[in-house]
Amino acid sequence: MAHELPALPYAHNALEPNIDARTMEIHHGKHHATYVTNLNKALESAPDLAGKSADDLIKDLSAVPEGIRGAVRNNGGGHVNHTLFWNSMGAGKGGAPTGALGDAIQAAFGSSDDFKAKFEAAGLGRFGSGWAWLSLDKAGKLTVHSTANQDNPVMEGLTPLVGCDVWEHAYYLNYQNRRADYLKAWWNVVDWDAVGKRYDAAK
Ligand SMILES: [Fe+2]
Repeated sequence: MAHELPALPYAHNALEPNIDARTMEIHHGKHHATYVTNLNKALESAPDLAGKSADDLIKDLSAVPEGIRGAVRNNGGGHVNHTLFWNSMGAGKGGAPTGALGDAIQAAFGSSDDFKAKFEAAGLGRFGSGWAWLSLDKAGKLTVHSTANQDNPVMEGLTPLVGCDVWEHAYYLNYQNRRADYLKAWWNVVDWDAVGKRYDAAK
């Protein structure tokens, strides 16, 4: 079965003024859609992988034939990353992480603000295109890190809880070169309930 572009779980303008509607239209309808199209194209030559989810494909890239491995890494990663991204944001969200995740963030980073500063630094420090992440490592410890291009933490054996897209396509219309301003505004739309549920499920 072909991979499909998931519907955006809210209206294009739901995240305004932090993320503008036009950016969301292009980001979801063009960029994410293209990752899905190109993932399906790459997989045409590997019918035995047709039953695998995109998550399973990128978790075990060694099982993907070498000739299409790069395409599956980039486009499968793009599909998985953006699906997680849309489902980590919402209208009227933001604030600080609560519950077990809030406690774990405090224990790992000192405070919610210290965590946010570290996360913003990871996003700012990523040269070129990529993502900033809060993930769980193999020992179940929280870690802040970044990946290049459309790489996903599972490719490094980590479990992603939430990621921020720092490709220019995610912010350029509204913020131009001001990635730092975009990262700061992004906290206003993070759905901590969704991220907390992910944390509970992963633990
Ligand atoms: Fe993106």
